[in-house]
Amino acid sequence: MSKLIIKGPARLEGKVKISGAKNAALAVIVAALLGEGETVLENVPQIGDVLIMTEILDTLGVKVHWPGSDTLRLTVPEGIGHLADYNMVKRLRASNLLLGALLARKGIAEISLPGGCQIGSRPMDLHIKGLTQLGCRISIEHGFIKASRSHMHGARIYLDFPSVGATENIMIAATMAEGQTVLENAAKEPEVVDLASFLNSMGARIRGAGTDVIKIDGVKHLYGTRYSIIPDRIEAGTFMVGAAITGGSIMVENVILTHLKPIIAKLKETGAYIEETDSGIFVAGPEFIRSVDVKTLPYPGFPTDMQSQMMALLSLARGTSLITENVFENRLQLGIELKRMGAKVKVEGRTAIVQGVEKLCGASVKALDLRSGAALVLAGLAAVGISEIQQLEVIDRGYRHMEAKLRSLGADVRRVN
Ligand code: EPZ
Repeated sequence: MSKLIIKGPARLEGKVKISGAKNAALAVIVAALLGEGETVLENVPQIGDVLIMTEILDTLGVKVHWPGSDTLRLTVPEGIGHLADYNMVKRLRASNLLLGALLARKGIAEISLPGGCQIGSRPMDLHIKGLTQLGCRISIEHGFIKASRSHMHGARIYLDFPSVGATENIMIAATMAEGQTVLENAAKEPEVVDLASFLNSMGARIRGAGTDVIKIDGVKHLYGTRYSIIPDRIEAGTFMVGAAITGGSIMVENVILTHLKPIIAKLKETGAYIEETDSGIFVAGPEFIRSVDVKTLPYPGFPTDMQSQMMALLSLARGTSLITENVFENRLQLGIELKRMGAKVKVEGRTAIVQGVEKLCGASVKALDLRSGAALVLAGLAAVGISEIQQLEVIDRGYRHMEAKLRSLGADVRRVN
């Protein structure tokens, strides 16, 4: 287990280049299974979760090769496996997208039920309901989802909740179903749009991604392609909060500004100075952080993946802030770790009451999940004294070269294995 030693307080100053989006890359890598032949993906972050996903594809018979540090080549053979076992799936929630891909490509899939995780039970009822409407037979036996289909046909599917994963799984499966599928109350996240664009570059016929009604006209074959992944809006937001919490100033490069709108709006409310430029987004920390209320919602609402980073920022605000987590049932645990640094956070159900304090003090804390781990790094940068962030692997899952990027911004951080 490795950990990060951070000496605070530090001002983050300079510029940082954002890597490819983890949650777009994971979905696109799975969708590449649908196209026989070679697919080359650019701007793919070589992070833990992506490496696990490519390992899973390798066990299914796909040849995986990194011709460049963020270029990935996948050579998909005619015959591929259909079993993703528990050891693989428990390490990576997004492997549940294999269900839609294997059903479309092979007509059969056996995926271990993904375990729950720190932020909630992560059920798959919406995935299963949608795939069943496409004509798949799905049963859950001994912790495995067993799925098969003799014939997949289009359907009109309404999602009770705009689930990102369910939208992606159903969209992937429907690309090769006979006839048209209309998916209503679909997720509108940029990563869903990126997946749809990727599938269309393989020959799929998907319209409406990014709105709440996605139409998919099934096709018989999809082909390998070349595609570049969008930048990671959550990594960008994490560094933007880094500038705000340390009172520094950062030019965040390689971003798509429209994807950052909810984050920009909220950070401006806290008093941060934000300028949108051609080369990226410039963020300077405020003289003092204003307390604000945050409600997480599906896109284009404030992203749940930025909630922890906001809790860290607001723990140093003047006044009391309310954070309401509307997407996951158990994603406010960061409060426990922040309190070890002197923060005043009270959690009541899905709401955290954050009473701002003058300063945080360095402490030894544990990264519980990817985003709360990143938030603890931000808190450690602002805190006075030495902080030790344990379980760094959790952060390596989603952030490419985090400590190198922070060091280039003037932070005093070092990894200890
Ligand atoms: C994706 O997870 C992201 N992961 C998450 O990012 C992100 O937080 C989430 O979308 C919301 O934006 C990937 O893309 C790999 P959901 P996903 O299905 O698809 C409930 C990160 O840190 N639900 O939109 O699992 C579910 O329990 C990760 O990068 C059902 O009830 O999210 C949750 O409460 C964390 N039934 C809510 O919907 C279902 O069948 C949102 O889940 C599916 C989901």
